[in-house]
Amino acid sequence: MVPFRKISLFVQLILVLHLAKEISAKFEFTNIKCETFSPTFNDFEYCFLKSVNRTYKYASLRARLHQVPITKIKVHFVLYQRLNGYKPFLYNMTVDACKFLKNRKRYPVVKFFYEIVEAYSNINHTCPYSHDVIFDKLPANFVNHRLTDILPVPKGDYMLETNWIAYDINRAVIKFYGTLS
Ligand SMILES: *[C@@H]1O[C@H](CO)[C@@H](O)[C@H](O)[C@H]1NC(C)=O
Ligand SMILES: *[C@@H]1O[C@H](CO)[C@@H](O)[C@H](O)[C@H]1NC(C)=O
Ligand SMILES: *[C@@H]1O[C@H](CO)[C@@H](O)[C@H](O)[C@H]1NC(C)=O
Repeated sequence: MVPFRKISLFVQLILVLHLAKEISAKFEFTNIKCETFSPTFNDFEYCFLKSVNRTYKYASLRARLHQVPITKIKVHFVLYQRLNGYKPFLYNMTVDACKFLKNRKRYPVVKFFYEIVEAYSNINHTCPYSHDVIFDKLPANFVNHRLTDILPVPKGDYMLETNWIAYDINRAVIKFYGTLS
């Protein structure tokens, strides 16, 4: 079951990579929302989207961890497309972050998404986590290059929901909203 799921996601990714030649589109962040479910475990010092000018917009956030070190983390990702309300689209997966960080090559789909953000954060090391987690100035047009040059995602509104699960308890959700036009 699990290996099949992994393979099938990989096949989907390969398929979209092959379809992805002539699409030129523009991705823009439209919103970011962070919410904690476990304030004594973690909370957000800040979480915002900033437009510097018409061409430069970025997202930044800082999650404070109050019970460190953290040795068990899973992340549940669901990508939604907005039709009549947000509907799941293509990706719905849970990743053991500690296993992934130890051996990235085994998780090609996750690696693909992870590489969009790694340069803009301090999460790039193996477990445990003993410090605040920062995403700093993740630019909309960097996401743009990755998604639109590589993935032929149809135009529209999207939301990536990420739930952060530590010790099997859902601690926080971070939602990234964007429009591909
Ligand atoms: C937007 O702001 C960035 C960063 O300050 C700057 O490098 C860029 O030239 C600006 N672009 C325009 C069109 O003003
Ligand atoms: C994601 O997949 C899980 C397991 O198959 C399922 O229980 C859940 O409802 C799905 N979530 C969405 C938003 O479709
Ligand atoms: C993240 O860590 C890996 C493995 O240590 C390294 O190869 C990679 O260059 C790092 N990425 C960044 C953006 O620092």
